[in-house]
Amino acid sequence: MSRDIWSEWLLHRRFGGDAQHMQKVLDFLRPIRDKVLHNARLAEGQTVLDVGCGDGLIGFGALEKIASGTVILSDISQDLLEYVQSLARDMGLLDRCQFVRAPAEDLSALDDASVDVVALRSVLIYVSAKQQAFREFYRVLRPGGRLSLFEPINRFGIAASDQPHVFAGYDVTPVIDIAQKIKAVYRQLQPVDSDPMLNFDERDLIAYAEQAGFGEIHLELQVDIVPPEDDDWHAFIGTAGNPNIPTLEEAMQQVLTLDEMERLVACLRPLVESRQGIHRRAVAYLWTVK
Ligand SMILES: C[S@@+](CC[C@H](N)C(=O)[O-])C[C@H]1O[C@@H](n2cnc3c(N)ncnc32)[C@H](O)[C@@H]1O
Repeated sequence: MSRDIWSEWLLHRRFGGDAQHMQKVLDFLRPIRDKVLHNARLAEGQTVLDVGCGDGLIGFGALEKIASGTVILSDISQDLLEYVQSLARDMGLLDRCQFVRAPAEDLSALDDASVDVVALRSVLIYVSAKQQAFREFYRVLRPGGRLSLFEPINRFGIAASDQPHVFAGYDVTPVIDIAQKIKAVYRQLQPVDSDPMLNFDERDLIAYAEQAGFGEIHLELQVDIVPPEDDDWHAFIGTAGNPNIPTLEEAMQQVLTLDEMERLVACLRPLVESRQGIHRRAVAYLWTVK
């Protein structure tokens, strides 16, 4: 069955086809979900809008936390909406869910002041019109309603990975030229200045919220500069960081000769398997009250 890029990535490609890696990703996401919902100050009987719901991490999490209340699961992907609908049916939650196909920047399917909470995780990184999305969040919230979100601040890691000898946090000095070819593949697909994943940081999120009209605004930035957590080579080359880019294996096949591929793997694989690298990550939690 062919699926759209969002469902193909969210349900498969982000796990690199590896069940263990999938478990790790889900374990990593659970505390993020809990924090987003905690910041949203959910209460019984309320209506939550999960924007860019994906496979329902936030929306189904909200339903677990309140015994009464409704979740509107919205996404641009019809396949994912059908997927969450079938999950809701299996979990006996259909009567507490609505499904709306809509982009974050155009929630016209929803009335003004119609929800108590807008919650989202890792969705604005795909939205070019971020200010417009915040205006829409403000519009659909009731007075006193809360917006709570989590977004990676990908710009933070860019400066380091721009150094020619660094690739994905690993020192690839012996094969700089080959690594540059691979980097060029990703840079062409995601130009640093204009790609919606890279062209904003935590201060922009605050400005978007303020300009949309939110009065009370909180932002928490978490920065980690740490050794890589994973030593699984196959997950490393088989995982796509987002739906718009190839896996490393695919990128290598696109632009490297067999000899170049072997040289890159000979340099990189031992570094990955011995976790000899540095990962730089920043993420932001923002929560506001209308
Ligand atoms: C990284 S996934 C996150 C899914 C889910 N929120 C979670 O926490 O697991 C990004 C989601 O945003 C959706 N998406 C992409 N562009 C969007 C847009 N402009 N408006 C709303 N959703 C969008 C994708 O279909 C996908 O489900």
